[in-house]
Amino acid sequence: MESVQAIKQRFGIIGNTPALNRAIEKAIQVAPTDISVLVTGESGVGKESIPKIIHQLSHRKHNKYIAVNCGAIPEGTIDSELFGHEKGAFTGASQTRAGYFEVADGGTIFLDEVGELPLTTQVRLLRVLENGEFLKVGSSKVQKTNVRIVAATNVNMFEAIEKEKFREDLYYRLSTVDINLPPLRERQEDIHLLFRKFASDFALKYKMPTVKLSDSAIQMLTKFRWGGNIRQLRNIAEQLSVLEQNRTITSEILRGYLPDSASTNLPAVIKTSKSESDFSSEREILYKILFDMKGDLNDLKKLTMELMKNGNTKDVEKNNESLIQKIYGENDDEDTDYEESLDTSTELLSIAEHPVEEDITPIQDKYHFAEEIEEEETLSLHQKELELIKKSLERHQGKRKLAAAELGISERTLYRKIKQYDL
Ligand SMILES: Nc1ncnc2c1ncn2[C@@H]1O[C@H](COP(=O)(O)OP(=O)(O)O)[C@@H](O)[C@H]1O
Ligand SMILES: [Mg+2]
Repeated sequence: MESVQAIKQRFGIIGNTPALNRAIEKAIQVAPTDISVLVTGESGVGKESIPKIIHQLSHRKHNKYIAVNCGAIPEGTIDSELFGHEKGAFTGASQTRAGYFEVADGGTIFLDEVGELPLTTQVRLLRVLENGEFLKVGSSKVQKTNVRIVAATNVNMFEAIEKEKFREDLYYRLSTVDINLPPLRERQEDIHLLFRKFASDFALKYKMPTVKLSDSAIQMLTKFRWGGNIRQLRNIAEQLSVLEQNRTITSEILRGYLPDSASTNLPAVIKTSKSESDFSSEREILYKILFDMKGDLNDLKKLTMELMKNGNTKDVEKNNESLIQKIYGENDDEDTDYEESLDTSTELLSIAEHPVEEDITPIQDKYHFAEEIEEEETLSLHQKELELIKKSLERHQGKRKLAAAELGISERTLYRKIKQYDL
């Protein structure tokens, strides 16, 4: 039997916390059997590697491994995706189609976010688990399959059962063995280890020197709460790797990347306002960014129209100098009207933190730079949005209706966002 260390190396799993080692050991032990396994743990803790280990160490390894994200498939099509359908079963079903349970015969299916399965699908799943039988949608012919199921969830299944959103019998059938992965905040000794791994991966990817943390930054990183777990840590390592020109990251720099901290890497307007971030100011930031982006978009539309009407790039550039300047930032002139460019460029530049060497940057590069900044801005925007949603949900104890009302969006939109951010 392969050792825990060898498995970690083979599957690129970093960390040495006893709870992580136990989880891997359990996966190794159950792999050769056909027992159903339920992997539990918060979002971003690394649940996806467990079913891979189980499949690779089982006698099924030469057959198919299919990972299905149950939360991402619309309710109307999930039965057909999993079990297939007959020709003519519903409008648009022009061909008979095999589902995952047929395709993966002899292999393993990983049902991620299994708690999201509609109740009708749960009934079909229970039947497959109990006797390997299923029906294609629109068919009455019983088919057989031999599939091993590994499921994962980040929701509290007992709560789901209580609310009658999940069948109790299915839960027990799925969770013959439960493998739990601890949240990152309970794996403090692994945090810096993981960061170093991600920093070196991103250095290679972006062909830049590896970022390193100062002692105080290591401390800050270790004490942080990591609501998004390893996924969030990886994300921050990537941002630092791409954005920071100074490759030694101090706690002051790091603070700007950790949500909820005193200063963010967002617009300067916020830096000078309240030091602690509260809900209303976050909403203001969002509105401001959205507003500015909309303004930029309109300016770009104008410019594109000009270009379409008047194909001569040089003329358009000349006639729309101020517009171009507004969209792409200040130009080289010493006497640029600072006030005028302030609204659109403060937040862009404050993200970069380092002055742009305007006078040696050729025009083309400047446009390119502006594009990159815009992308980063969108990134921060997503991060802020994610935080807003999380906080609102926490405040209302997960009640989506109340959170949606507070955020001023429909419940449906909130639901989509929750999916999008893997909350
Ligand atoms: N122990 C680990 N070592 C290295 N990377 C990890 C580890 N655990 C998770 N990751 C990375 O973190 C991210 C989130 O992991 P994932 O398995 O998708 O989380 P979950 O399914 O629990 O939400 C992935 O990019 C994954 O590669
Ligand atoms: Mg996942």
